Amino acid sequence: PESITVADLANRMAERSMDVIKYLMKQGQMVRMDDVLEADDAELIVEDFGHTVKRVSESDVETGFIASDDPEESKVKRAPVVAIMGHVDHGKTSLLDALRSTDVVSGEAGGITQHIGAYQVQLKSGDKITFLDTPGHAAFSAMRSRGAEATDIVILVVAADDSVKPQTIEAIKFAKAAGTPIIVAVNKIDKHEADPQKVITDLLQHDIVVEAMSGDVQSVNISAKKRTGLDDLTDAILLQAELQDLKANPDRDAEGVVIESKIDKGRGSVATVLVRRGTLKRGDLLVAGGQWGRVRALTNERGQTLAEAGPSVPVEVLGLDGAPDPGEVFAVVENEGRAREIAMYRQRKTRSAGGGQNVGLGTSLEQMMA
Ligand code: GTP
Ligand code: MG
Repeated sequence: PESITVADLANRMAERSMDVIKYLMKQGQMVRMDDVLEADDAELIVEDFGHTVKRVSESDVETGFIASDDPEESKVKRAPVVAIMGHVDHGKTSLLDALRSTDVVSGEAGGITQHIGAYQVQLKSGDKITFLDTPGHAAFSAMRSRGAEATDIVILVVAADDSVKPQTIEAIKFAKAAGTPIIVAVNKIDKHEADPQKVITDLLQHDIVVEAMSGDVQSVNISAKKRTGLDDLTDAILLQAELQDLKANPDRDAEGVVIESKIDKGRGSVATVLVRRGTLKRGDLLVAGGQWGRVRALTNERGQTLAEAGPSVPVEVLGLDGAPDPGEVFAVVENEGRAREIAMYRQRKTRSAGGGQNVGLGTSLEQMMA
């Protein structure tokens, strides 16, 4: 739960702590400087002091997007964010490659050329889907360990000639723990040995009941290699997204999650982020994990420069003063003082936590990814 000390709150409002304490006393509440206030109460106090409430508190920047939700009427439909998981060699990378070909914008714009850790396709229908594409990275598990889940749908790739294997089972457990809906992609159906029915039956033992078995999990037969069944798969994704009614408010300061990052010799810090709500703009002041900076450039997976990126759009950001870890959350803040404050707070936090990321999650999750 979100909270703030009396002293911090006074500080944020540029009021004296004593005045806040006196104010609360008048309301019949005895508090001291270091007493903790709930965010909702704090918000009322802020308003009573004649300030506008802007909830970019340390706690919400630290833990994710759980803080104040946007009013329903401010939200518009956004693209689903999809992660592909499955056992080694079942075809995750092949599928991610194949799905790039479903994009209709590629022709004119030169195609998805950059590997920035995520890409978005636009389908013939005009609908968009964002795929996380993070080989060798623990973005998915890191996000989860930080409570900043960014994946809306998991595609569980199961090779039809190999069926359910240990990492298939782990992926199922993982998606279930995260509460993320699964779509089964039975892959390699072009092979002679393919036995999609066995896959379906084996999945039953892990509480994955597909529609053909009167369950509610969609299952699609595909061949990533021959590129068959891809339209069925994207249809299934859009249907699932429709059920989840995925929406976000584009008209606010951006918040989201770091997918990957690196320090590039020429360009400095290069971070791929996924916007969850709001719109990220060139020139914005950004705090991402323990790093901050002004957004110098935004680039998409086609290497094109963008002026801004809205909800569910993955984008490469230049301008941070370091490389934030995958899974860290980011937020746009109003001034440099605030940016520095949050960045330093988080650096202290990371240090006192031993600097470890992906706490408690094994590397098997990384292997399941692409
Ligand atoms: P890891 O990243 O090692 O876990 O593997 P992966 O899940 O990314 O699998 P990848 O896409 O690398 O595919 C593994 C092998 O299966 C490769 O030799 C692919 O060519 C092959 N493969 C993938 N999809 C298909 C398919 O639909 N049909 C056939 N016949 N082979 C496939
Ligand atoms: Mg792979």
